[in-house]
Amino acid sequence: MSSHLKQIAIEDIPDITSDMLDKLRKLGINSVYQLAVQTPSELASWINDAQFDVESTSYLIGNARKILTENQVLSKEFSTADDLLEKRNKISRYTTGSTNFDAFLNGGFETQSITEIAGEFGSGKSQICHTLCAAAIALLEDESPDVTGNRAPGTIIFIDTENTFHANRVYQIAEQKNLDPEDILKRIYHCNIYSSEQLEILIDDLPKSIEQYNARLVIIDSIISLHRAEFSGRGTLVERQQKLGKILNKLRRYADIYNIAVVITNQVVSYPDGSGFDYMKAAGGNIVAHGSTYRIFLRKSGKNRIATMFDSPSQPYQHVKFSISERGIQDAASYKTEEGDSGW
Ligand SMILES: Nc1ncnc2c1ncn2[C@@H]1O[C@H](COP(=O)(O)OP(=O)(O)OP(=O)(O)O)[C@@H](O)[C@H]1O
Ligand SMILES: [Mg+2]
Repeated sequence: MSSHLKQIAIEDIPDITSDMLDKLRKLGINSVYQLAVQTPSELASWINDAQFDVESTSYLIGNARKILTENQVLSKEFSTADDLLEKRNKISRYTTGSTNFDAFLNGGFETQSITEIAGEFGSGKSQICHTLCAAAIALLEDESPDVTGNRAPGTIIFIDTENTFHANRVYQIAEQKNLDPEDILKRIYHCNIYSSEQLEILIDDLPKSIEQYNARLVIIDSIISLHRAEFSGRGTLVERQQKLGKILNKLRRYADIYNIAVVITNQVVSYPDGSGFDYMKAAGGNIVAHGSTYRIFLRKSGKNRIATMFDSPSQPYQHVKFSISERGIQDAASYKTEEGDSGW
C-alpha cells in the first residue's frame, strides 16, 4: 500500500465474507480502494458466480465507499459545501517549471482532476508530458508522512500509446533544471501499449499499480490514438465512444479516490469551415469533452506555442504562450509578435 493513502484493511468492510475476500483476491483486488473504484456489473461478471450477482457486488462496493467516506477519503453522497472545500484543500498541484504555464493552470496540474491537452502534431503535447515528468517528480520528494510515519517518494505512471516517450529527453530536461536525472528516471514507470484492448485492461488494473508504485500522477499520451485507429469506420463509432467513455469514467474515479492527477493527450480533427480553411477541434466528441475536467488546446505560433484553456470549472477562457527548448517547455522569451508568429 502506498504511503499517502490511509491504511484501511479490506477485512474491515462491513458484511464482507471470507468467501468474497477469496474471490476478490483471486482477481487481484486487495484493498478497500481497489474495491471502491469497481463497477458492480463488471465486478459481478469477473467473479462469474451466481451467488455474487450485481446486487451483492453493488452492496459491497457501496460498503467500501462508505468506509472511505467515514475516513474522509471520499465525499458523502450529500456533503455540505464546507466539507467539499476541505476535500479541495487536499488537492496537490504539479508544476511544469514554466512560470506562465503554471499560472495558466492555476498553480499546476491538479489532483482529483483529468486535464486534457489536445493539439495537432508537433504542437507540444508530448513535450509538456516529458517536462512534467522531470519537474513534478521533484515535488513528489517531500510527501508528508502517512499514518505509519512512512515517507515513500511519489512516482509517475506514463502510459505511452504512440511509442514516443524518450527517457533521454526527461534526463536532458532534468539536467537543465538542475534536478537529479538518475533519481527522476527511477521514479517514472513507463508502459508501452499497442492495442485498444491492452489499454482497457491496463486501465482496469491501474489501481493496483497506483498503490504498488505510490503513483501521484498518471500520464496517458495519447488517450485516443489506438481507439481511433482501430474503430475507424462509421459503424464502429458508437462502440468506440462507449469504450472511451468507460476509460474516462474509471480515470475520474481513480483521480478522485487516490487523489492523483491524470493528464491525457488528445488528437485533433479538422473541419472545413466553408471558406477554404479548416478549423481544428479536439477529437473524441462529447465523451472526451465531458470526461475531462480541464481542457487545453495547443497550437503552433511561429517559434512559440499557444495554449488555450477552453474548458475549466474555475478559470476563464484564457491563453498562454510558451516555447520548447532543452529545458522542456518554458516561458516564451517575448510576448511580442515574432516573425511568422500570428500572435493570439
Ligand atoms: N530539445 C528541443 N529543443 C527545442 N524544441 C524541441 C526539442 N525537442 C522537441 N522540440 C520541439 O517539439 C516538437 C515536438 O513536439 P511534441 O512531440 O510534443 O508534439 P506532439 O504535440 O506530441 O505531436 P504528436 O501529435 O505528433 O505526438 C518538435 O517539433 C520540436 O519543435
Ligand atoms: Mg506526441
